[in-house]
Amino acid sequence: MIKGYKKIVDETLVNYFDEILNNKEHIFAKKTIEAMKYTTCLGGKRLRAILCLEACRIFSNDYFNALPASCALEMLHSQSLIHDDLPSMDNDDLRRGKPTNHKVFGEAAAILAGDALISLGAQIIIEKTSKAVSIERILKAVKEYLIAAGIFGIVGGQTADIEASDSTFNIKDNDKMLEYIQKYKTGALFASSLTIGAILGGADSKKTEALRKFAYEFGIAFQMADDILDVISTTDEMGKKTGKDQDENKLTYVGKFGLKDAKEKLISQKKACYDILKANGIESEIFCEIINSITKKIF
Ligand code: IPE
Ligand code: IPE
Ligand code: MG
Ligand code: MG
Ligand code: MG
Repeated sequence: MIKGYKKIVDETLVNYFDEILNNKEHIFAKKTIEAMKYTTCLGGKRLRAILCLEACRIFSNDYFNALPASCALEMLHSQSLIHDDLPSMDNDDLRRGKPTNHKVFGEAAAILAGDALISLGAQIIIEKTSKAVSIERILKAVKEYLIAAGIFGIVGGQTADIEASDSTFNIKDNDKMLEYIQKYKTGALFASSLTIGAILGGADSKKTEALRKFAYEFGIAFQMADDILDVISTTDEMGKKTGKDQDENKLTYVGKFGLKDAKEKLISQKKACYDILKANGIESEIFCEIINSITKKIF
């Protein structure tokens, strides 16, 4: 099922970009369109799309109504990675096993591609979501998408991430900074993925909010696992450079409390994810598989 979801997302994304590349009107913007397609279609695990599709399926017995939105979320995710890798941010050369966007297309195209991916995603939710979904639900979905993209989401979290890595940053005066970083740079996009899936699947607000709560706990677990893997895994295995967070003075749970504590906290964080699903009567093998998958390379 996870593989099936991933395949349809991969194929739909290629179709969306090819449609734009075939539009002769925008031939002079080809470089940026190719940059947009490059990182987005390099793959990745497609976790945000899969969570979105599965949330929709749980409530409507079909994932179809969330397919355009799930692709939009992968565009937004790819944007966040393209900009995260820029020299002015994390300055990375490798992403998804290949040279980063700015290494291939140059910084200007990478910045523009990221900008355009954000708006293309919103446009796709509006234009391509099935007419069977009410305008009201589509509007709610777009709102969730825009919140995740901006200052109340990824941009907010990334701002804090960069601030906290400055040598003048004083953790003692900012003891909630780590939680803020995890919640917004990573959790916000998972929150929008799950709530958008639920909204487009016709869920009521109680279940939608339960999934939002789950998403934020999952986001913390996910970022903790990523930070642990930065220390214990290899560049080959991750498809991106490891061992960088310490060099870049990143504020992570591992950096603050050490590897042993981080691993223990990750286990309790995973449990918190399962507990929320159980308490709200949400059953999904896919959700369980995804929760388990994040620690596979660690334990
Ligand atoms: C990487 O996310 C960015 C983080 C939030 C740590 P993923 O590990 O989901 O990246 P892809 O999509 O599989 O490449
Ligand atoms: C990523 O955090 C969060 C984003 C919003 C992109 P990281 O900087 O740790 O992600 P990786 O390790 O580069 O994938
Ligand atoms: Mg970063
Ligand atoms: Mg990074
Ligand atoms: Mg990382």
